[in-house]
Amino acid sequence: MTNKRIRKAVIPVAGLGTRFLPATKSQPKEMLPVVDKPAIQYIVEEAVASGIESILIVTGRNKRAMEDHFDKSFELETILAEKGKTGLLEIVRSVSGMADIHYIRQKDALGLGHAILQARAFVGDEPFAVLLGDDIIQADEPFLRSMMEAYHREPASIVAVQPVPRKDVDKYGIVMPKAAGPAPQDQPYFEISSLVEKPRVAEAPSSLAVIGRYILEPTIFDVLERIPFGAGGELQLTDALQQLSGMSRLIAMPITGVRHDIGDKFGYIRANIEFALEREELKQDLRSYLRSLVQQIHTMDSASQAAPTVQGKRVRVRKTGRV
Ligand code: G1P
Repeated sequence: MTNKRIRKAVIPVAGLGTRFLPATKSQPKEMLPVVDKPAIQYIVEEAVASGIESILIVTGRNKRAMEDHFDKSFELETILAEKGKTGLLEIVRSVSGMADIHYIRQKDALGLGHAILQARAFVGDEPFAVLLGDDIIQADEPFLRSMMEAYHREPASIVAVQPVPRKDVDKYGIVMPKAAGPAPQDQPYFEISSLVEKPRVAEAPSSLAVIGRYILEPTIFDVLERIPFGAGGELQLTDALQQLSGMSRLIAMPITGVRHDIGDKFGYIRANIEFALEREELKQDLRSYLRSLVQQIHTMDSASQAAPTVQGKRVRVRKTGRV
């Protein structure tokens, strides 16, 4: 086991984004904006704010817009400078100066484990962080930093976890805590005895789901090289961690803050609202809009409860009062 400083992060983004078609037909889903910043920027900002020095984005086809986003934009900068739009110029410049970002293409979509394997040469023999692009964590302190601090106190691979509704366990990697007893999600971190990727609801060992933040020891690469393809016919990072749990200590860290699953339409809409509520220039208008919307919904709900029935069935009343 190594106990080195964590300097590098890997962000796999090679997925096709089919849940957001047609928006993702010609642009990567990671470029969809949450308020006014592409989703990927939130992830990069969390890594940088946590002290990560170097980032590898594992991309696939159709992801070039992301590289352009973090690159310099001479034309745009020149135009903004000429027009004296210094505020905007500052924003545009800060994006390209944000971090030391490298890219590698995952040529075949063979799963998260396969994407991580592409990072082997970049990572070398150091512990490293992994951040998944679909999970934005909204918190006062960057959550990855807490994981990195935990690693420095207790060097072991760490996965972020969060309790999810039982019916949803088949969408996640699920962990089995080592110790029986009180709900471990109330502890800052706890040891895991096993993990399983996307179990059936009836077979899940708990409702504690792996969320897209990991601190990994470099031994994970050897494990990934030799494990078979798993759930969905893909090389699964969870399977490699399961193997690792038999060889060394594995820690789960319940997330603090709010996790937004922006790979899901509802999660994406919610993230936009919650982040907009934090923005000075938007929050006032948004709050009063939400207040009036809630009132409208209440009115509609009570109207439908009081709606007349025809042969035992509720009849919809239009706003005009006509049935
Ligand atoms: C991936 C991981 C899964 C994890 C999830 C978190 O799944 O394989 O273990 O729980 O991210 O978002 P995916 O969402 O890519 O299917």
